[in-house]
Amino acid sequence: MHADEITAPDTREEITSFPNYPGYIRAWTVFKRRGFSASCGAVWRQDIETTLNKFLKTEPPQDIRVLSIGPGNGTMDEPLIDTLSNMTTSKVVYCAIDPDSAYLQEFRELAASRSDDWKNIEIEFRVESMEEYSDVWDKCEKKDKFNLIFASYVIYHFRDAKATLVKMNEMLENNGIMYFKIVSGGWSKLMAYWNKFYYDSSCKINRHSPELVKSMILDVMPNAKLQVLDRNADVDITECFEEGSENGKLMLDFLMQMKDFKSVASPERRDQLIQFLKDECCEAKGDRIMLSCTDQHVYFIK
Ligand SMILES: C[S@@+](CC[C@H](N)C(=O)[O-])C[C@H]1O[C@@H](n2cnc3c(N)ncnc32)[C@H](O)[C@@H]1O
Repeated sequence: MHADEITAPDTREEITSFPNYPGYIRAWTVFKRRGFSASCGAVWRQDIETTLNKFLKTEPPQDIRVLSIGPGNGTMDEPLIDTLSNMTTSKVVYCAIDPDSAYLQEFRELAASRSDDWKNIEIEFRVESMEEYSDVWDKCEKKDKFNLIFASYVIYHFRDAKATLVKMNEMLENNGIMYFKIVSGGWSKLMAYWNKFYYDSSCKINRHSPELVKSMILDVMPNAKLQVLDRNADVDITECFEEGSENGKLMLDFLMQMKDFKSVASPERRDQLIQFLKDECCEAKGDRIMLSCTDQHVYFIK
């Protein structure tokens, strides 16, 4: 067992975490707009293009099969799909599964707007969690495997991350690529601190540290030669410390994983966490308070 894993009995305060509420996706969007968009911008485009061109080897005219887990509105997937459509004329079967139908609908609209560019990409949208999709896959007689499995900022939402990783490994073709994006840097420092006080028994959010994510992957896939890439993406969270800012409130709720964090947390815990966020996880740049986030890419070839 990894040192970060929590063992019973759990004496922390049980909460209903923010992903259980509709505002969660809006908060993630604000967070990206305040700087985390670097994680889905030009650098990400370059990184995924380099990796896929180097490692994704299939014999034409063989189809390329991709499983994207929790793509949300598809902004993180867009550069990946662009790369695939540029690198091959073979058919790309792109299976996008996300339990949030409204968010996935935005991805559908994005795909429709890019249909002229993505002629060889066949996207199958499924409103399902990974757990539900795994059950469906298990029952299929012909178990089609994937050449690429992409999971960006989603491992925190699996009910049982290790069990899901086992399933993901089973779904991956030999020579296929497993690609995760995870939280690291000052943001994960906050997550570790938060973890001492709260937990969500519905497991809509698990605050796994980057070390724990990697050790879980290696537990399940001991031969995986993990490649790790750190990309800095500082987020301007000054508004979190300003009274009356709607976007600040959303970002604070997102970081603390609690809807209406400021009124729901006890005053003592609230002040303690906000102080920790400001002093230990952020840097002042002029009059701005920047959360030092690292967009960590963890991937391997099976
Ligand atoms: C933080 S968002 C990340 C969205 C996108 N991958 C990105 O990087 O911008 C997490 C996504 O995971 C989805 N999700 C939550 N629980 C899930 C599960 N059990 N299986 C698959 N996706 C899940 C959410 O609906 C949401 O779209």
